[in-house]
Amino acid sequence: MQVLKTIEELQNIRKEIKGTVGFVPTMGALHNGHISLIKKAREENEIVVVSIFVNPTQFLPGEDLDKYPRKDEADKKICQMCKVDYVFMPEISTMYSKEEVLVKAPNKSYVLEGKTRPGHFDGVLQVVLKLFNLVQPTNAYFGKKDAQQLSLIQQMVENFFLPINIIPCDIVRESDGLAMSSRNVYLDEQQRKDALLISKSLYFAASLIGKNELKSDVIKNKMLETMNILDVEYVAIVDRQFNEINEVVKGNTIILVVAKLGNTRLLDNIWI
Ligand code: PAF
Repeated sequence: MQVLKTIEELQNIRKEIKGTVGFVPTMGALHNGHISLIKKAREENEIVVVSIFVNPTQFLPGEDLDKYPRKDEADKKICQMCKVDYVFMPEISTMYSKEEVLVKAPNKSYVLEGKTRPGHFDGVLQVVLKLFNLVQPTNAYFGKKDAQQLSLIQQMVENFFLPINIIPCDIVRESDGLAMSSRNVYLDEQQRKDALLISKSLYFAASLIGKNELKSDVIKNKMLETMNILDVEYVAIVDRQFNEINEVVKGNTIILVVAKLGNTRLLDNIWI
C-alpha cells in the first residue's frame, strides 16, 4: 500500500494504471461502515484507492470541522488490512485555491439535510468532483446512510456525463441496530442507549408497511411516538429522487430520520 500526499503523485500513478479502479472517498475516522465499502471495492476492482480528506467546504460555520475525529495512523492500518493499493491524503491548500469555480447543487439539496445545513451539498459535490477527476475511478462506492448525498452524487455524475459507476452500499449497523457513524464516538452512555430508538423507529416503520400501512403521515406519526424522548429534527418519507411522497411505493421509498443526542446529530434511514 502506498500513501500519496500530493496531487502530482496521484496523477503520475493514475497514468500508469490500466485496470479497473474502485474508489472509496472518506473523511477518515474509518469504521466498519467504511470497511464494508472498501471490501466491496476490493472484490470488484483491480486497484483500490481510498481518499482521506476532511473537506472544509462541506462544513458550515460553527459545525464540527475542528472537532471532527482525525485518526490518520489508525486509518492507514485499516486500509493496509483491507489491501487498499493507494491512500490519498492531500493537504487542504493543494485541493483548493483562493477563488474557485464552484459546483452548485440543485434546489432539492436545500431540503432535509440541506435545510439545516444550507450549502453543505455544494461543498460535498465540489470535493467529490475534484476527487473523481484526480482518481478517475471505474466504480465509486458510497453508503446508503447518506442517502441524500448519494442521490446528489448520482445526479452530478449524470449531469456532468462522468464515466463513473456509482455503487450504493448498504448501511452497516452495530449488533444492536445503531447505524455506524464516525460521530457515534461523541455519544455518552445514556445517549448511546437512547440512540437505538432511531433504528427501532425505522424497523417499526418497515413492519407497518409490511402490514400494508402505506400512508406517510400515519407512519411518520407512529415513528415520532416511538422516539418521543428524542430531539428529532425530522422524519421524512421520500422517493429515490428525494421528493416527499404521501404514500409509500415499495421499491422506491426511503424513510429518513435525523435526531440530535446532545450536540451529536445522527442520521439513519431504511430503503423500502
Ligand atoms: O461522506 C463523506 O464522508 C463525505 O461527504 C465525502 C463523500 C467523503 C466528501 O467529503
